[in-house]
Amino acid sequence: MSQPTLNFSRHSEAAARLYLQHWMILDQLSSLLDPSIPLEGSLKIVDIACGTGIWLLDLAKHLPPTAELHGFDISSAHFPTPRELPANVVLDTWDALGPVPEHLHGQYDLVHCRGMMLYIQGGDPSRLLANLALLLKPRGWLQWEELDVVNMYMRGDDTATKYPNCAKYLEYGKRWLENVGIRGGWVSQMGAFMSQHNMEVVKERRQVITPGMEKPWTTMQVMATRDFIENDIIPTCGAVGEGGISPEEWSEILREFPRECQEGARVLLDIVYVVAKKG
Ligand SMILES: C[S@@+](CC[C@H](N)C(=O)[O-])C[C@H]1O[C@@H](n2cnc3c(N)ncnc32)[C@H](O)[C@@H]1O
Repeated sequence: MSQPTLNFSRHSEAAARLYLQHWMILDQLSSLLDPSIPLEGSLKIVDIACGTGIWLLDLAKHLPPTAELHGFDISSAHFPTPRELPANVVLDTWDALGPVPEHLHGQYDLVHCRGMMLYIQGGDPSRLLANLALLLKPRGWLQWEELDVVNMYMRGDDTATKYPNCAKYLEYGKRWLENVGIRGGWVSQMGAFMSQHNMEVVKERRQVITPGMEKPWTTMQVMATRDFIENDIIPTCGAVGEGGISPEEWSEILREFPRECQEGARVLLDIVYVVAKKG
């Protein structure tokens, strides 16, 4: 099993954050699936890195009970209990960066994946992409969504002066990611990676968080930032590479980031997604 690169918590606040994020993404994209993807016939759909399973559970409401919906994640910590799942939704554990079990090859009409950027090492998603393609039937559809974490930004003028700790988080958080081998530049080139893997790209979209969602998104970002700084950055920042800052400085960011967001800082990123068809 591949070693997850990050130690995000598995407690209920982390699940709450994933639920919130799901419904905010849905608000921003207006639909669970791009309208170019046909939803007809007896569909078999899989969600990779499904987390709480909420994307599948929401999708199941729009599909007949004959549709088969499967979800895989490296951890079952956020799965609902089996009693809470409709009969046509099954969640299971699988490391999507490892080998694809033979019984899953070519099984699915549609593969959905969202939020793996922080778990891809070295700036190259090819291994995951090859696995997603292997799951698809010929001419099957892939929809892959990512948050453009490495291009996170603050909205507004003069933000570095007004909100110095948010600015420090953006600069040094990115440096920490680079130092541990997480380079997310590929998120802006997902379509090109898919073309290289014999996929026909049907749509590429970049959604900027809309003005009405800036505050809710930042509120969720405060929760994610705390988890990230406490559980990943502070325990390792002394050891990972050049150009970083000390645990004490990170502790200050941890204290001041929520205050600055309450005072008006808006910390945002774009939602990027690509729809492609297997060749
Ligand atoms: C940011 S969460 C996204 C969850 C879900 N896709 C969503 O958008 O609500 C990332 C998920 O990827 C899962 N994950 C990380 N590495 C994985 C791997 N190698 N194989 C499968 N899942 C993985 C984590 O356990 C976590 O649930």
